[in-house]
Amino acid sequence: MSVNLVVKNVSQVTDRIRQIEFADVMDLSLPSYSAGAHVDFDLGELGSRSYSLIDWAQPAEKPKTYTIAVQREESGLGGSMKMHELSVGLNITCSNPSNDFELADIDAPSLLLAGGIGITPIISMMAKLNSQGRSYKGIYTGRSQDFMAFLPQLQNSFGENLELFFDDQKPLDLQTLFKDIDPATQCYLCGPKGMIEVAKSAALTNGLADKNIHFELFAAPEAQSDDQPFEVELSSTGQVFTIPVGQTIIEVLEEAGVDVMFDCQRGDCGICQTEVISGTPDHRDVVLSKDEQAAGNVMQICVSRAKSARLVLDI
Ligand code: FES
Repeated sequence: MSVNLVVKNVSQVTDRIRQIEFADVMDLSLPSYSAGAHVDFDLGELGSRSYSLIDWAQPAEKPKTYTIAVQREESGLGGSMKMHELSVGLNITCSNPSNDFELADIDAPSLLLAGGIGITPIISMMAKLNSQGRSYKGIYTGRSQDFMAFLPQLQNSFGENLELFFDDQKPLDLQTLFKDIDPATQCYLCGPKGMIEVAKSAALTNGLADKNIHFELFAAPEAQSDDQPFEVELSSTGQVFTIPVGQTIIEVLEEAGVDVMFDCQRGDCGICQTEVISGTPDHRDVVLSKDEQAAGNVMQICVSRAKSARLVLDI
């Protein structure tokens, strides 16, 4: 189901980050959500873009507004630029909220690590933990202080529970962060792919169980300059599709009316995982471990591509 919104407020947070607040077009209550949830905005021919909902207190049962923050990516595919064009009074449609990054309902300490604009779901999650009086530590890291959003509000809201790191002044050492960590800790990671991979590996090396590590990529991995077209053969029908540069396997199959399961389209939820019968995948997800990626038996077809000319998939 979709939700019809009107832009209520726009404010510039940093040079590249803009906060946008939406209300229902009829000023009704909006569908409720939990901390860590996102909505997908319909951007017409550009497709949809996911943005996490920001709450500085526990989300209301009947919210009157949704708030997001969008970082402008000049070299992206145009979605963030389009979101930056929104001004007060314009209408836009989004999906109902969904949450692939829910706080575990477990009485254990939480460690929340945000990189760059990945802070947005982490704000709502820390706010919820705060309101429940639960034990947590937030880490927010970015290239430099000037690029990081909401610093004064974050320090006011979360005080000593939040520690800031800046690559140019006080870089974060992930091995130190996870050293001697309580193995019961629930760890939440949100940021770029590189940060999630390194943090996940540091957490595992220091004794955290895989099931205690939760993560959400902030954006789908960007196309790479050496991407090539490749073919996908469906084992069930023998149909062959060409996947051009700039399109994903899911996008091509969907356009052709092939029914496939997917959710995040960023390579972090695992819903689209598909068995590879032959061919060599070029993995771009953060779901599979390095060993699973090397084995090449399965792949996430929302982001991963091929190193071989053709993949035969169990579809
Ligand atoms: S749809 Fe989430 S990993 Fe592919």
